[in-house]
Amino acid sequence: MKLLECAVKNFRIIKDQKFEFTDGVNLIKGNNAQGKTTVLEAIYVFARGRSFRTRNEAEIIAFDRDGADIEIVYEDLKRTNTMSVSYKRDENRKLYKNGIQINKTSDFLGNFRAVLFTPDHLSLIKSAATDRRLFLDIALSQIEPKYIGYLKRYGILLSQRNALLKEKSADSDQNRILFETLAEQMAPAAAAVTALRYRYCEKLTTHISDYFESMTDGAEATDTVYESCVSQDPEILKDEEAMRALYERKFTDNLSREINMKTSLYGIQKDDIDIRLNGYSSRKYCSQGQQRSLAIALKLAEGDISAEATGEYPVYLLDDISGELDAKRNTFFMSQLKDRQIIITSCTAKSSKKYGRVITMKNGGAV
Ligand SMILES: Nc1ncnc2c1ncn2[C@@H]1O[C@H](COP(=O)(O)OP(=O)(O)OP(=O)(O)O)[C@@H](O)[C@H]1O
Ligand SMILES: [Mg+2]
Repeated sequence: MKLLECAVKNFRIIKDQKFEFTDGVNLIKGNNAQGKTTVLEAIYVFARGRSFRTRNEAEIIAFDRDGADIEIVYEDLKRTNTMSVSYKRDENRKLYKNGIQINKTSDFLGNFRAVLFTPDHLSLIKSAATDRRLFLDIALSQIEPKYIGYLKRYGILLSQRNALLKEKSADSDQNRILFETLAEQMAPAAAAVTALRYRYCEKLTTHISDYFESMTDGAEATDTVYESCVSQDPEILKDEEAMRALYERKFTDNLSREINMKTSLYGIQKDDIDIRLNGYSSRKYCSQGQQRSLAIALKLAEGDISAEATGEYPVYLLDDISGELDAKRNTFFMSQLKDRQIIITSCTAKSSKKYGRVITMKNGGAV
């Protein structure tokens, strides 16, 4: 996959600018607050379906404007494509691919694929479980066309269920029937998401082990474990039908307790992943340095799994990470990405021959 161009209009600090990219490493440099991360934010919208910095789309429209537009031109294995997103205050954004409007985010995702690596990702191992679930959700939604649909459906049903659990009359006969129906509808979506996440973790195990071994010059075995709140039995976890039945039971059997607690106690919103080092949880026992190395391995693995699933490497968007990594980890990371397309931001890097292109940002424009 190769990003050729990105045109950005009234998107945060960027008024109207077209950026062109080449193979290899593209450097976006400049002082603080000149719009470097904003360029990556705009590009990554096409991979993730929304900004990685905010859920509130009004925030990304330039302060004094009513709308923003972003467009990319990229090559995949088959052809050159254009995708665009148009934002207006007080309206839903509009998505397009090759000039045709796309109504469902699930049809938008998976076209342009990218791996984003920001300094925040370096704490992925020890941060909240939500962040690790988000990692899985973003990675899977780019390579598994059905994933986002299951996830969304589950999310809507879960909100309904939680609202019902908070009602004063949650325990009424009528509501009991509603809870049964919800359990029947949520279980297949939860099982499908679990099966896909479980299989993804199996793939992570292989890749992370290889990277971690090279980084630490040691033979420490790593294992990426999907921690489901309903089962730890691998045979059940990868069996969608067994998981469906199990979820349906869990959603039904614990209802009285959940009505007391006024919230859902089981489901994919409670799950987590843990990378185990020689059997021990990295979250709990690893040193800060080991956790950073594992986070790097995780991001590299994300790109490899995307390439295995689609036949081509994604575009790598690296936001100021060289400033955060020590020289050894930085060299290792960059050496693993040789021959891939990388767009990297930095306030300290100087132009040099190792960059295929250097873009200098000043006050939201390229100079
Ligand atoms: N909606 C908006 N409209 C106009 N300007 C905005 C908007 N949102 C953010 N900005 C401005 O954009 C600038 C930040 O841009 P960005 O985060 O891309 O900078 P950066 O070059 O990556 O800086 P750093 O090197 O510090 O990471 C800030 O000065 C901020 O005030
Ligand atoms: Mg920045």
